[in-house]
Amino acid sequence: MIQTPYYLIDRARLARNMAVMDELRVASGAKCLLALKCFATWGVFGQMRAHMDGTTSSSLYELRLGREEFGGETHAYSVGWADHEIAEAVGYADKIIFNSIGQLERFDNASAHIARGLRLNPRFSTSGFDLADPARPFSRLGEWDAGKIKRVMDRISGFMIHYNCENADFDLFDRQLSQIEEEFGGLLRRLKWVSLGGGIHFTGEGYPVAKLAARLKAFSDRFGVQVYLEPGEAAITGAASLEVTVLDVMNNGKDLAIVDSSVEAHMLDLLIYRQPAKMETEGEHPFMICGKSCLAGDVFGEFNFPKPLQVGDRLSITDAAGYTMVKKNWFNGVKMPSIVIRELDGSLTVARAFGYADYKASLG
Ligand SMILES: Cc1ncc(COP(=O)(O)O)c(C=O)c1O
Repeated sequence: MIQTPYYLIDRARLARNMAVMDELRVASGAKCLLALKCFATWGVFGQMRAHMDGTTSSSLYELRLGREEFGGETHAYSVGWADHEIAEAVGYADKIIFNSIGQLERFDNASAHIARGLRLNPRFSTSGFDLADPARPFSRLGEWDAGKIKRVMDRISGFMIHYNCENADFDLFDRQLSQIEEEFGGLLRRLKWVSLGGGIHFTGEGYPVAKLAARLKAFSDRFGVQVYLEPGEAAITGAASLEVTVLDVMNNGKDLAIVDSSVEAHMLDLLIYRQPAKMETEGEHPFMICGKSCLAGDVFGEFNFPKPLQVGDRLSITDAAGYTMVKKNWFNGVKMPSIVIRELDGSLTVARAFGYADYKASLG
């Protein structure tokens, strides 16, 4: 048995998402770039590469990883490029997308030999979280003034417009895209490509993929642009779990189980968005599943089990791919979960294990 904790990536689940990805790409003509900010576990890029067109990034290091390990089309985006990064960035990128007109102008000469784009902020989004809402008041994420953008249209060939967030509602997507068409149509017609960003939950159960494809194709035909999507979550949803072992059980008014992992260190996104973890279990015995860090609120959630938990029991926490592995950290020096892949034949491959040397190297 592989020692816990470990993230377990399931190739069969990943393959299901990739099949939907293909369906959408073929029917819409849109290109799909993996958003590395969401998932960058490059050991499975080989499987994803056949079904996605490349990667998009949020920093120089993601950009480089995409170029080195995924290949295909490599889009470079960053909220802010530093002077010392730009030469290297344009060396890896097929297209560079600037967050502001200021950055586009600053790096005009340095980037003139590759395709360039600008992030457009349509000033609405589908995010319910202020923290993750690109349209929040005074948002720094992109330019929204068409008058200002007009003046730099001769330097760019595309826009990136990221405004969806786990949006499973096709009609909402349709309405909001129409709003963009209305407001920015004049500019869109002058472009060669438009990336509509990520956040469309098209691999979710029951999502009308054919409708989305037709809508994207209509957009592409109307404005004469190549459409890109930047799926993160949609690419890997449901494809990984965090496998942990119970180290101790207590009762402090409730039954508690302490596991060999930590929300703070290994599923940080749950704490940030104040959401409970997910576990497929039911039964008569409720337990609060707690992390082993010193943080009082290091709690995965409360779940029901068929029998009382005991030291040594193994638990599987689902939905551990997106925004999870990319945020893992060494808080409390808790052992970082290994990365394990469940192959299509069911066998397990340990892709990477982390130890004390990695912890120490991360700090000095
Ligand atoms: C610019 C951009 N593209 C793509 C994504 C990926 O979004 P998701 O993982 O929701 O598909 C994000 C997420 O924040 C983003 O900011």
